[in-house]
Amino acid sequence: MDDNSLTNYLKAQKKLKQISETTLLELFSPLLKTEQETLIQNILSIEVKYFLKQKACFSQEPPIIPDIKSYKSLTPSGSEEKCQLGLKAASSGKCGAILIAGGQGSRLGHAGPKGTFPITPVFHKSLFQIFCERVKQASEKANYDLPLAIMTSPSNDSLTRRFFAQHQYFGLKESQISFFVQSQIPLLDFEGHLFLNEKKQIAQGPDGNGNLFKEFKKQGLLKEWTDRGIEYLNLVLVDNPLADPYDFELFGELITSQADLSMKTCPRLSPKEKVGIIVSQHKKPIVIEYHEIPNTAHFNEEPAANLGLFALTSAFANQCASLELPLHKVPRKALRFDFEVQKVIQPLKPNCWKFEAYLFDIFPYSTKSTVISYQREKIFCPLKNKEGDFSPNSVRKSLTAIGIQ
Ligand code: UD1
Repeated sequence: MDDNSLTNYLKAQKKLKQISETTLLELFSPLLKTEQETLIQNILSIEVKYFLKQKACFSQEPPIIPDIKSYKSLTPSGSEEKCQLGLKAASSGKCGAILIAGGQGSRLGHAGPKGTFPITPVFHKSLFQIFCERVKQASEKANYDLPLAIMTSPSNDSLTRRFFAQHQYFGLKESQISFFVQSQIPLLDFEGHLFLNEKKQIAQGPDGNGNLFKEFKKQGLLKEWTDRGIEYLNLVLVDNPLADPYDFELFGELITSQADLSMKTCPRLSPKEKVGIIVSQHKKPIVIEYHEIPNTAHFNEEPAANLGLFALTSAFANQCASLELPLHKVPRKALRFDFEVQKVIQPLKPNCWKFEAYLFDIFPYSTKSTVISYQREKIFCPLKNKEGDFSPNSVRKSLTAIGIQ
């Protein structure tokens, strides 16, 4: 080992001691020198503070929300006045849109970033193409080159950028598009320990969509956009081909209500639907994620669903960039390198925890938030699964029904 490698090895050793994961060192000696170096870099990239937060959450149950009540103060959609107000704000360069595309799309099983999935029934346009075309149309309407920022993850960033470049940014100017990358954090096995998914690689996964504003700020985009005069941001999830990155009515709602957050909703279909629900906490709308809704929660009518469609002020986004959001843990199937048999094992059932920060956990921090209700068919038809509900077949049927080809 040369001096540099030795220094890094000692640093890695120290870090593993700090997080009580020294057994990883036992796996070290059989590795080739280059493999050892990769593993050391992996260990050095672990953020101790965040790792300890993962460990703490390991033994923690989700917070109990007493007396869960549906959020009922919904404003109906369809205001032409708000549309005009939003359009005016966009025309004067006050609006920006963020496309959230850092997820792994594991339920869909598509090789490649989810946004590259060809989803429209006739022209086979990808999700990314749909969003870019909407930005182009909105730009023409506003007579202003509206910007689109895309959040990717370390595992899909270069593929995403390449896809956009190969398709000449789907008719947008290259200067209208920016990319920023979310982080990854280690997965932990059911005993709470790090493990390897390849001989030399610590198993990691994207850290959820909740650190979006932290990264948006850290990577300079928040300042760049604020300096340009952008005051309002609209967020959309990559898997919903009906999401509109420039929903002028939503911008208008945010402006007229002088809220710092406005979201779009429709009722959940049934308790089986995998959507978060919007409930009332201190008269504010907050979200409980579908896998954390207690069995005891009872609603007379289906509650409002979290569709991941919302707009917020840049000032609130700036505040959210310094929030320490809680971590949520979800069981996952992940490849694991077994040193005894010297093979990567593909599990048949979940074998570890994935930890994620959720974007909607910023909602309780807003001072005023509003919720607009829509007809589901117009705004929500997400692509989630390989088969059955919310699969390519069912999404294409819904798109055909509303004339999207
Ligand atoms: C998400 C919402 C859920 C909502 C549903 C509506 C969250 C945490 N949950 O659930 O409340 O009812 O959508 O369709 O938002 N993503 C990243 N990085 C990550 C993980 C996800 O960018 O690390 C992105 C995905 O690319 C996608 C979005 O976040 O655009 C939602 O991710 P996904 O894991 O599919 O969320 P759901 O479980 O469907």
